[in-house]
Amino acid sequence: MSKLKGSAMKEIMRVEELEENKEELKEVVEDVKPVIILAALVAVVLLFIFFLRLYIRWGVECPSKNRLDGKTVIITGANTGVGKATAIELAKRGARLILACRDRIKGEAVARIVKKKSGNQNVFAGRLDLASMRSIKEFVEEFNQNEAQLHILINNAGYMGPKAATDDGYERCFGVNYLGHFYLTMLLMEKLRKCAPSRIVNVCSDAYSRGKLDFSDLAMLKGYDSFSAYARSKLCQVIFNLELQRHFFSACVWSFAAHPGACNTELLRNFPGMHGKVLRAMARVLFKSPEEGCQTIVYCAVADGLRDFSGKLFANCKVVKLQDVAREKETGTKLWNTSLTLTGMDREYALYPEEGEGSAPAENGSQAIGTEGGEEGDTTGPEKRPAAAAQQS
Ligand SMILES: NC(=O)c1ccc[n+]([C@@H]2O[C@H](COP(=O)([O-])OP(=O)(O)OC[C@H]3O[C@@H](n4cnc5c(N)ncnc54)[C@H](OP(=O)(O)O)[C@@H]3O)[C@@H](O)[C@H]2O)c1
Repeated sequence: MSKLKGSAMKEIMRVEELEENKEELKEVVEDVKPVIILAALVAVVLLFIFFLRLYIRWGVECPSKNRLDGKTVIITGANTGVGKATAIELAKRGARLILACRDRIKGEAVARIVKKKSGNQNVFAGRLDLASMRSIKEFVEEFNQNEAQLHILINNAGYMGPKAATDDGYERCFGVNYLGHFYLTMLLMEKLRKCAPSRIVNVCSDAYSRGKLDFSDLAMLKGYDSFSAYARSKLCQVIFNLELQRHFFSACVWSFAAHPGACNTELLRNFPGMHGKVLRAMARVLFKSPEEGCQTIVYCAVADGLRDFSGKLFANCKVVKLQDVAREKETGTKLWNTSLTLTGMDREYALYPEEGEGSAPAENGSQAIGTEGGEEGDTTGPEKRPAAAAQQS
């Protein structure tokens, strides 16, 4: 009997001990619960960042191995970012390169780096400030004195930042990213035509799809923010790219818009406030390197078989569909005419008939120009250009 009592007591004690342990365990679990939740959250965030990084950085290498020996190329804004990476890549392919940079000393320093990295000594720096029509004109004069040919023009330089004006008084994003490049391209057009088939690569951004173009407020007096101004300038560039195709395709000057993807460059250096700080930090972790970003630009500059894709937008070395906002013909014509007027080029190029002023010349005037396989032999000259492109005063 007493034995039985003893074992029952022992059992009760064991149960009590177990209860105590259970309580202790519960307390420990309560203590570590926040740590477990935090660790799970961190794991989810890290996983999210990992997949986001994969998504943003996903890209392809330019599949074309074409060389550019004997071809002359201008790259604007080549002293840093994707412009510099593009310069190194094209120099390795044998191009004669003119690095058009705002600061001649920076340009010459980069020319030395490009020569060293590529082993190509045909790399030169020229001074070009796209915020000044005078500087653009001087750059072209110097270029024409020194260079007989131009096969590829890469309109790459870009500004994003607080509200500022160009030397000529235009809103800076619009002035540098778009209007300056418009003026430069038109001044160089005669050389591009002479060297046809030639190419213009407009380095754009998918931000164009969020751009709004209000011709009555080009100065953005109604409200300015860095991103909207940038997006508008990129929209103008994409429209310009399409207009170039309309006007110069039949002269065998082909134009391509290239979106490099989000790249860790100096583009965000002027982006103001906390937003800018966060974006710059994100760029360091998530964005592509300039070398990865330049692949689509290089592709548009060198790849075969792109003739029929003139006027299109490329990303990751593939054509991507243009949003309707960039395809409205009326807006394209208006931007073209406005740009000719703002740059004083309307003295050399007749304005395009706008809505109600008569019909515009047919697109792609000559279907007989060039063949897929025979681009290099395609030498249709300026005399075959469409009326609208050729109307000189
Ligand atoms: N980074 C991206 O995520 C991204 C995404 C989509 C598209 N893009 C486009 O890629 C192109 C290159 O940008 P990035 O990212 O390589 O930026 P970046 O590193 O800031 O390079 C921009 C270049 O433009 C030059 N530039 C600025 N203002 C100029 C002016 N007034 N005259 C002449 N050159 C001027 C800069 O020269 P200074 O150094 O002297 O200022 C610099 O060389 C831009 O068109 C940009 O819109 C970039």
